[in-house]
Amino acid sequence: MILDRVKPLDAILATAQKKSLHRSLGWFQLTLFGIGCVIGTGIFVLTAAGAQKAGPGLMLAFAIAGAICIVAALCYAEIAAMIPVAGSAYTYTYATMGELLAWTVGWALVLEYAVAASAVSVGWSGYFTGTILNEFLGIQLPAYLSGAPLALGGVEGGFINLPAVVIALLVTWLLMIGTTESARVNAVLVAIKVTALTAFILLTLPSEYFSSEKFNPFLPAGVFGGFGSGLGAVGAAATIFFAYVGFDAVSTAAEETKNPQRNVPIGLIGSLLFCTVFYILVAAGAIGTVGGQPIMGPNGVPFPAGSEELARQCATYAADALPLVCSNEALAHVLRQIGWSGVGNMLGIAAFVALPSVILILLFGQTRVAFVMSRDGLLPQSWSQVHPKWKTPHVITAITGVAVAFAAAFLPVGRLADIANAGTLYAFMMVAIAVIILRKTAADAPRKFKTPALWLIGPLTIAGTIFLFLNLPMDAMLVLPIWGVIGLVVYFAYSRRRSHLGQGIVEVVDDVAGEETMVPIDPPSR
Ligand code: ALA
Repeated sequence: MILDRVKPLDAILATAQKKSLHRSLGWFQLTLFGIGCVIGTGIFVLTAAGAQKAGPGLMLAFAIAGAICIVAALCYAEIAAMIPVAGSAYTYTYATMGELLAWTVGWALVLEYAVAASAVSVGWSGYFTGTILNEFLGIQLPAYLSGAPLALGGVEGGFINLPAVVIALLVTWLLMIGTTESARVNAVLVAIKVTALTAFILLTLPSEYFSSEKFNPFLPAGVFGGFGSGLGAVGAAATIFFAYVGFDAVSTAAEETKNPQRNVPIGLIGSLLFCTVFYILVAAGAIGTVGGQPIMGPNGVPFPAGSEELARQCATYAADALPLVCSNEALAHVLRQIGWSGVGNMLGIAAFVALPSVILILLFGQTRVAFVMSRDGLLPQSWSQVHPKWKTPHVITAITGVAVAFAAAFLPVGRLADIANAGTLYAFMMVAIAVIILRKTAADAPRKFKTPALWLIGPLTIAGTIFLFLNLPMDAMLVLPIWGVIGLVVYFAYSRRRSHLGQGIVEVVDDVAGEETMVPIDPPSR
């Protein structure tokens, strides 16, 4: 049987129970942690791509994506508090739906974490070249070193995004030598990001440039832009969903939380609500001052964001007259256009300083999932070697970092974000299904947090993730099945035979330095 290899939940729970992490986090720290993981390239950069898809309807897009993330977060919270071991969605699926589907989730999480890390690296590169090099040092990096090729939706004359490659490799090196972000550093970075966005809101909404006229037409590409187009308010929601990715990190902190039943949902929903409100206000400020209408093609339909045609259109504008939808550093650009160049540059510095921590969190997530898959025998064992001095899974971190840098080198940020979203939406859907299954198969297992009204929240999460997925641009949608088929080939050619569970051994690994529990079981049929 193909779907028979289900990891015994008891073994996973036994391992989780051995881990006695100090319960120290309250709702406030958890909310801060969530905001630190979430605010990044989505709001600082993708606002431009979102406006190209939806125009002022971008505000509606933020609300739709935020609402879907909140229901998904409630499902995540239950299973994360119940099975608090490394590997998140991959491990949950292994315990409920078996190895094959768990493999597909682990494989899709590469898209969530690694490709998202590439997207944030490219977003960082926009602020680095625009604010640090251009504004402060007066250096104009040649196009062939600062952007992806035009044919891939990059810039005219583009070849490689060198700053994005450098930051991706630098963060990889920091992770390899064992850097993790302390709560204090996170709090400082959150303060920087929130201050920058607050300044943006305070300078734009009451600005003399602000006019309600700029919101007209509100939905230039409609609510639904057409299947596969990625346009319209829901198309923008599918892209801007990226701005919320990372909240799952909060649920993984459930085991370190005091009174998780109360504090985990407050932390998750609090950070998501906070970001949703902030994002909508930022979008209103940007669009209300400089306008956010899409650049329309000859047939009255917006050019696709990240397309060659749009890049060509953008190249026809002078730098100081660039529309919002063309900017690589959307928020700093808005402030410069309305006469606040100094503050715009400060905001650019805030993005420059704070975005690498988002890359770090995403890369960390990727290495931990791949580490657990390797220890399960599904990926080569040599990948999960822990470095004797650094105590990190350095092999897998290096492999991940090179792949992340490669994708960041040649693809534009919007395209990377859409691909990352496809993988993330799949993982979120599987988590919701796993929560529903576990309520039946492990009804009595202790749960530190129970999703309220799961009969409603669970199906809403599944429907919401499918809905957003179906509103991605066609190429991003296709990446998931193609990537999935490659994954299945790898699974049947390599992993299935080497799987430890298939060989009758259940290994549950807490984390890199964690304890390992080995439980021999009867090997399931192959
Ligand atoms: N939500 C994160 C960001 O926008 C991934 O950068």
